Amino acid sequence: MIEVKNLTVSFDGKTVLENINLTISKNEITIIVGQSGCGKSVLMKSIEGLITPDTGKILIDGMNVFSLNRKELNKTRRKLAMLFQGSALLDSLNVYQNVALTLMEHSKLPEDEISNIVSEKLELVGLADTFYKMPAELSGGMKKRVALARAIVLQPEYIIYDEPTTGLDPIIADEIINLMLKLHRKYNVTSIIVTHDLHCIQRIEGNIAMIHDKKIVFDGTYNDFKNDNNDYVKKFVSRN
Ligand SMILES: Nc1ncnc2c1ncn2[C@@H]1O[C@H](COP(=O)(O)OP(=O)(O)OP(=O)(O)O)[C@@H](O)[C@H]1O
Ligand SMILES: [Mg+2]
Repeated sequence: MIEVKNLTVSFDGKTVLENINLTISKNEITIIVGQSGCGKSVLMKSIEGLITPDTGKILIDGMNVFSLNRKELNKTRRKLAMLFQGSALLDSLNVYQNVALTLMEHSKLPEDEISNIVSEKLELVGLADTFYKMPAELSGGMKKRVALARAIVLQPEYIIYDEPTTGLDPIIADEIINLMLKLHRKYNVTSIIVTHDLHCIQRIEGNIAMIHDKKIVFDGTYNDFKNDNNDYVKKFVSRN
């Protein structure tokens, strides 16, 4: 479980998040929505302990990320996997190497075991025949899949997706949504999805937290979100 308690974050005197409270339940899917620049990524970076807030706490399974020493923070961070918007693959490494690198850096596993894990994860995301392709030869959807395979090699308990379907055509976006749902079920992880994509929200039907003007203006189920009376929620839901 992730508990955000009275979190306030400012940059150069400008407050981005003010007194935010949010609970992300274990093994569920939570979708974070809100307009561009409202602080979604800042909230995710805070969860990873990459930002120091003005005030507040973030507890990951009871441990406050802002008061951990480096060793404890690294241990807690290993529970989290982050899927970045741009996929962030290393251009000089092939698909296999991109996924294997994480394991080589963070585990002491022998080469054949690394090879088994990497193959299994790449097969899982539907890239069984693509091991030796370079990132430049991949489509946007394939890059996302590689990034997903890489995100799950260390068996995270939490997967954070930052705009996983943005910029993909609807069919590929649907495949990525299916894959997120598959991973969620298969590994029993806690999934956190930051998105603007109404179609993605409708397909996933997770818990929803909406940020507007520094605050959480909605926190509840997808069904309640659809029928909520808050002006910003209504505007968001009726957008398309
Ligand atoms: N390291 C930083 N230093 C200064 N300001 C920052 C920093 N990181 C974020 N901000 C500011 O905080 C605000 C929220 O940014 P954030 O990236 O969280 O928005 P977002 O909701 O993720 O937007 P988008 O949907 O476009 O990704 C913005 O005004 C941004 O300029
Ligand atoms: Mg962002």
